[in-house]
Amino acid sequence: MNQPTTAFDSMVEAMAMPRVVRLRPNLYAVVFSLMKILPAKHIIEQARSNGLLGPGTPVLETSSGTFALGLAMVCRRWGHPLTIVGDPAIDPALRTRLELLGTRVEIVDDFDAPGGIQGARLARLEELRREQPGVFVPGQYDNPGNPGSYLPVAELVAGAVGRVDRLVGPVGSGGSSGGLSSALRLFGMDTDLVGVDTPGSVIFGLDNGPRPLRGLGSSIHPGNVVHESYDEVHWVSAAAAFGTTRRLFSDLGMFVGPTSGAAYLAADWYARRNPEETTVAVFPDDGYRYQDTVYCERWLRERGHWAPDLPREPLLVHEPRNLHPHWTRMEWNRRPAPERALTP
Ligand SMILES: Cc1ncc(COP(=O)(O)O)c(C=O)c1O
Repeated sequence: MNQPTTAFDSMVEAMAMPRVVRLRPNLYAVVFSLMKILPAKHIIEQARSNGLLGPGTPVLETSSGTFALGLAMVCRRWGHPLTIVGDPAIDPALRTRLELLGTRVEIVDDFDAPGGIQGARLARLEELRREQPGVFVPGQYDNPGNPGSYLPVAELVAGAVGRVDRLVGPVGSGGSSGGLSSALRLFGMDTDLVGVDTPGSVIFGLDNGPRPLRGLGSSIHPGNVVHESYDEVHWVSAAAAFGTTRRLFSDLGMFVGPTSGAAYLAADWYARRNPEETTVAVFPDDGYRYQDTVYCERWLRERGHWAPDLPREPLLVHEPRNLHPHWTRMEWNRRPAPERALTP
């Protein structure tokens, strides 16, 4: 077993735990620099301690971004060779960082595969798993260690905020929103959970389609999304998320990624409508990865994501269809997974 490398441990610790920031009297943000380091650390350390992951055992995972980076840091720290099956959302700068940490990166780009791009990534992961018997696959979409890793964050939030009436979080694997809300409810709070998704994502019953807003949403059904936990769902377009992310920086000085912008759009709306209630938003990563995209007006205009006149209110729908192009809300009321979300 490798000796602990103190600097690495400190970096992982520092990046894993968020800051709780008060944005307005009744609106808080849980601000991570790299949220997915937390489930990566928890899953790898749990597997090491229960013998599933021996010294030097290779690790194989599929991710389009931040989970890959979290795993790369944790695997480097413990000396596990890591292979990531990603897609073009892994931009060259992220790829360089992964490779500097010793990660082998394989990119698949078959967006029309069954199950969309995530289906294609999972199919390639299975091929590689068969080629490498004994490899450990963390499985962020289904591993209960993903939601389970957020318990210390829920304790931090409860200590800083007190009662949380509503938690608003972007939903990808479902780990953060599901893990945080179930821990807060376990502490005895009656917390409403609002999931933020995007058009083209199947998680809450839409058809699979292009999703220019990445990090949240999915083209497969992640087992870690427990639909019965969600009270409301918002679908936010890339343009709305990008515009709100920029506004977070210009208005509040918060330099964060676009899934944070999407969560803020919904959280801010609830906080304004419910001044007596405390709303907490999850901000999963910082803005550095998006400087040439979300924070670049030319890129936004060229890609058709420049939309200065965004709606001030979400469109309310009663079924997951007929969405507004930018912002839609549905009262989910803790209903089970829609049939079509279960078929990959
Ligand atoms: C930037 C970003 N935001 C949001 C999410 C969604 O979080 P979760 O997977 O916990 O649902 C992810 C997941 O990878 C992410 O990378």
